[in-house]
Amino acid sequence: MQKRILRVLSLLLTLVLLTGCTAQRARSKKKVRIGVSVYDSYDTFIAELTGAFRENAALQQGSVQIEMSDAARSQELQDKAVRQMLDNGCDIICVNLVDRTAPGKIIDMAKKKDVPIIFFNRELVEEDLERWNKLYYVGADARESGVIQGRLAAAYLKAHPEADRNRDGVIQYVVLEGEAGHQDAILRTEYATSTLRDEGIALEKLGYALANWNRLQAQTQVRQLLTSYGSRIELILANNDDMALGALDAYRESAVTPPPVFGIDGTNPGLTAVREGSLTGTVRNDSEGQAKAMLALALSLSTGGKCEYPLTEGRYIRLPYEPITAASLSSMTERSGAVSR
Ligand code: BGC
Repeated sequence: MQKRILRVLSLLLTLVLLTGCTAQRARSKKKVRIGVSVYDSYDTFIAELTGAFRENAALQQGSVQIEMSDAARSQELQDKAVRQMLDNGCDIICVNLVDRTAPGKIIDMAKKKDVPIIFFNRELVEEDLERWNKLYYVGADARESGVIQGRLAAAYLKAHPEADRNRDGVIQYVVLEGEAGHQDAILRTEYATSTLRDEGIALEKLGYALANWNRLQAQTQVRQLLTSYGSRIELILANNDDMALGALDAYRESAVTPPPVFGIDGTNPGLTAVREGSLTGTVRNDSEGQAKAMLALALSLSTGGKCEYPLTEGRYIRLPYEPITAASLSSMTERSGAVSR
């Protein structure tokens, strides 16, 4: 009798150990679930960034599962989507905030479930990021893009004195701004114009328009500016490529020759316009690099491995911007042609 009891007990013990091992194996093989919530999936730059994120995640041989959600510019919808992702068991959540001043609910919910958050592209203020040690930011330094845009424009104006159409020694310009309150809009405008002035270009601001990063809105706004100023506009500085392209659309439907137009991002349509010569220059906002860095950070946080991208202050990854002109694009193409030859 005693022997029988002992045999049953040892059988039970083996079963417990076996199921334990299987569970452990399953756990170590478990897919990393990454939730990604964007402020607006129709934003060209964000669509390119998330496209690159998916492509790179697909290279992880099925070990990464992505759950995407579009907040359609509503912070309330985004808070709900993040709650759902947490309930669904996401290991990490990447958030492109709708309102960068309102990350409170998301931080509290994530903290409760102990799930790290990587904010990207729309930067929250430092005090918010410091509210918990599992909050991170991936993006770029907006100041740098403004300085590069200013330098590109200054170099162009110096090489093309005819750009000063009325020959008054002053460049009359307009600015197309992204969203009010977005760190990139504020800093790009400020640093592009201050850099132009530092480069010795005298400026007069004719007007500005908020076009929310959007091509159609920029087209409508520039249509208005054209009726007020016509050919007096000698330079257009746009906070991103989509708005620069919207400005060019407005010129295309008018009889006025467009002045030099500069964007920021280097999106696919932006690069095509630079190659064709309609967009005078742009500044590459490295969507691919930011996507790769975000994925690497997400994987290192969920597996406990080392992240190959250095973190500033233990929380920030910022990818550099790069000036783009038709000349730099064609020399890049030649170089890559030379390599493949
Ligand atoms: C990009 C814009 C984009 C915005 C969205 C900026 O960094 O340059 O194209 O619309 O981010 O937050």
